[in-house]
Amino acid sequence: MNKFRDVSGKVAFVTGASRGLGQGIAQTLADDGIHVVIADIRPEVMAAFEEIKSKNPDNKGYAVILDVSDEAAVKAAVEGVVEKLGKLDIMVNNAGIHITPSNVWETQEKDIDRVLAVNFKGIFFGCKYAALEMIKQKSGSIVNTGSFFGKVGHPGSAAYGASKAGVHTLTQSLAMELAPYGVNVNALCPGLAATDMHWAFVESDARDRGITFEEMKQVELDSIPLGRYGYGYDLAGAIMWLASESGSYVTGQLININGGLDFS
Ligand SMILES: NC(=O)c1ccc[n+]([C@@H]2O[C@H](COP(=O)([O-])OP(=O)(O)OC[C@H]3O[C@@H](n4cnc5c(N)ncnc54)[C@H](O)[C@@H]3O)[C@@H](O)[C@H]2O)c1
Repeated sequence: MNKFRDVSGKVAFVTGASRGLGQGIAQTLADDGIHVVIADIRPEVMAAFEEIKSKNPDNKGYAVILDVSDEAAVKAAVEGVVEKLGKLDIMVNNAGIHITPSNVWETQEKDIDRVLAVNFKGIFFGCKYAALEMIKQKSGSIVNTGSFFGKVGHPGSAAYGASKAGVHTLTQSLAMELAPYGVNVNALCPGLAATDMHWAFVESDARDRGITFEEMKQVELDSIPLGRYGYGYDLAGAIMWLASESGSYVTGQLININGGLDFS
């Protein structure tokens, strides 16, 4: 592999990796020779790592159960990666939730608090403790999962969209703060991805429109120029590029990974 693009032997920490985009990201990174530590609030993360390890027996990573909204736990988990594997090259702050879609006037305070705690504060804490390690190393790449919904407002998703808009400006601020240390910070903005989180959204949209789940999926697929949903491996390609020498001049960007769904 050309050194300019080579990422093998790097160490990555991926949150929200028991399923969905995070699981696909971690699997793809591992398949390219990156040691992956994966974290999730669901104990299923342990089985997700077993699957990675079965396909990549030399992988030195492991799995941790972690609630990213708990600052002390995030600090311990990030420091643990460096203690056990000697460095942290790639931090993928991906864990997130979507609350039941509701108009602003119907949204409960407890739901606003939880979506901000996981999606905004969780990513903030991941950035904070990864930054402290990468400043010491004078190298690294931080990639946050943003969203199409954080760029343009959508009915029913005000709290979720605000949490992702916060991730976008956090990404740009941190990119400027970490530039002197040779660390790049970017956000990937998926559009519509084939995950459990998104299927819950499709179900609710189908109910509102009085159509079936399959009909609602077809409406969505017709709106995506590339004609398919997104997967973790679509994000993984960008993550590996950003973490390699070939992507090292890219920082503070909100990169759409959305099949052409939107150009904002
Ligand atoms: N699916 C989409 O269409 C879509 C679109 C745009 C952005 N996103 C974003 O992509 C990311 C991944 O979403 P997904 O679609 O794979 O959803 P998902 O629900 O399939 O996976 C999210 C993962 O995050 C974990 N998680 C939730 N709360 C957590 C917490 N407090 N601490 C640690 N882990 C936690 C979940 O257990 C789950 O494994 C999220 O940040 C989401 O907002 C998804």
